Amino acid sequence: MYVVVCAAGIAGDVGRLISAAQEAGWDVGVVATPQGLGFIDAPAVEAQTGYPIRSAWRAPTDPRPLPPPDAIAVPPATFNTINKWAAGISDTLALGILCESYGLGVPTAALPYVNAAQAAHPAYAESLGRLRDMGILIGSYEPHRPKAGGGADQFRWEEALDLLAPRLSARG
Ligand SMILES: Cc1cc2nc3c(=O)[nH]c(=O)nc-3n(C[C@H](O)[C@H](O)[C@H](O)COP(=O)(O)O)c2cc1C
Repeated sequence: MYVVVCAAGIAGDVGRLISAAQEAGWDVGVVATPQGLGFIDAPAVEAQTGYPIRSAWRAPTDPRPLPPPDAIAVPPATFNTINKWAAGISDTLALGILCESYGLGVPTAALPYVNAAQAAHPAYAESLGRLRDMGILIGSYEPHRPKAGGGADQFRWEEALDLLAPRLSARG
């Protein structure tokens, strides 16, 4: 499973999903957006997964650092990455993987973590609608009050696994 981490305030807790996924039997590799990289403890994540974190494209002659994914979780998914993903923009490695994984049919769950002011922008609802139409599973976290420090205690990292489970059993 790839866990794609974006630059939201709670990203530093991604180890919680990595642990839950590993307990469920997944081999986990982390892909961070370039901004997201600054929000996580990279050495701790790499020690936990056993893989280097991917954030930039490899050189054409370099080997692939991670095997291809059977599933992808995107927690936290930022306003920025959600809108760019829905629009088909591929200017980070994370977005490149997400955009292409749709065509490859990889089961994917996104857990947005945005505030209500971001969510009020008309592009946001359109982007979520398009991602849903693409078959992307969307988490249930409700946008928090702007400038209120977020609602980390309401954010259920493990929801990514719950959302993906039926999709994976349908594939066999
Ligand atoms: C401390 C801090 C917390 C942030 N939290 C969020 C957040 O919770 N949700 C969000 O959508 N953006 C948040 N942002 C803004 C994103 O980091 C910014 O839009 C960035 O460009 C996202 O890049 P990415 O989507 O490539 O990861 C935060 C920024 C900072 C500095």
